[in-house]
Amino acid sequence: MTVKISSSDLRVGMYLHKLGGSWLKHPFLRNSFLLEDQNDIKRIIQAGIKEAWIDESKGLARESKQKPKQEQIEELTTEELPEEIVNDEPVGSMDEEIHRARKFCNEAKEQVKEMFNEVRMGKSIDSEKIVPIVGEIEMLIQRNTSAILSVARLKTHDDYTYMHSVAVCALMISLAHHLGLDEEQTRLAGIGGLMHDLGKALMPTDILQKPGKLTDAEFITVKKHPQAGAAVLQKNGADPEVIDIALHHHEKINGSGYPDGLTSDDISLLARMGAICDVYDAVTSERPYKKAWDPAYALQAMAKWAGHFDNKVFAIFVKSVGIYPVGSLVRLSNKRLAVVVEPSVDSLLKPKVKSFFSITAKAAIPVKIIDLATPSCNVTIEGPENPDKWGFKSLERFWL
Ligand SMILES: [Fe+2]
Repeated sequence: MTVKISSSDLRVGMYLHKLGGSWLKHPFLRNSFLLEDQNDIKRIIQAGIKEAWIDESKGLARESKQKPKQEQIEELTTEELPEEIVNDEPVGSMDEEIHRARKFCNEAKEQVKEMFNEVRMGKSIDSEKIVPIVGEIEMLIQRNTSAILSVARLKTHDDYTYMHSVAVCALMISLAHHLGLDEEQTRLAGIGGLMHDLGKALMPTDILQKPGKLTDAEFITVKKHPQAGAAVLQKNGADPEVIDIALHHHEKINGSGYPDGLTSDDISLLARMGAICDVYDAVTSERPYKKAWDPAYALQAMAKWAGHFDNKVFAIFVKSVGIYPVGSLVRLSNKRLAVVVEPSVDSLLKPKVKSFFSITAKAAIPVKIIDLATPSCNVTIEGPENPDKWGFKSLERFWL
């Protein structure tokens, strides 16, 4: 039987079924586990979590109303803890939220790097450091989804794997919201996104950092990262859903993926989400052997890959990142090329853009901001354009 108790009544030996309050504060890799360490209880209280559900069939039952020992009261009382202020600042302009997202990404990237290094050295995952990143990403998504998704897309060669982890985490959470998943599934999707490529920590670095395309033999080695990651997560007591995302994010609906060659319904929803978020972030990132694809162009291309993704989930993914994500190059009905700089609240098809190039004159023109959602505006987007075709580089300058 599960019962709700105050966090200050938690004791070693109880089986934690679920933590109360917003999951943004949760410091653990897993949600349900046997409390074996007094420090875990301390962490719960320090995270500002006031209530928890315990499963009395799997561990100690509630204590009868006896008072905790005096020395524990000081450590465990929640009353004096200030109400944690999450997301307290008012949401700023697009520029301000992009600035906030950049600052966060730089810090998060370092923490993910540390986690990879620790796993490489055979150490365990420091969930207290890593899991709060997922909560912060959730908070940034609530503030301004486009800002965090666009910033996380930008990577350098050196930090690719770490920023990719942050980006996939953000994409997973945003997709989970659009799919209407509950808080717990959303949290698992986020953690799974952050950890999905952890197995790469155990792959030879010369292959991972190879500046060119991989040979067949090297590719066979890299293909072992899902199992390697799943094993690390298993060892660290991660939730089965998180392990599943790491193990199956390279599966394809038609059965041609790896490592298990699973088909459609045998791939869990979270793993199907992982496959989409992983590929989208990989193709829209610059790699030593390929240029970054334009985001809107990537969505259009991915939609044509038959048998790779779950079509229904993909359609919702497109909505979650926006049909024309920030940074996309688009062709306007007034024969101009423009870069999407801010989504519209009302319509995915009518973002704010900066036009900068005349298609007819084939020449740059003075940059002009156009809000396509303004009722008086009769300019529309005709479709995405491939920046390579036009020889454009660093379109980021228009929105970053
Ligand atoms: Fe992967």
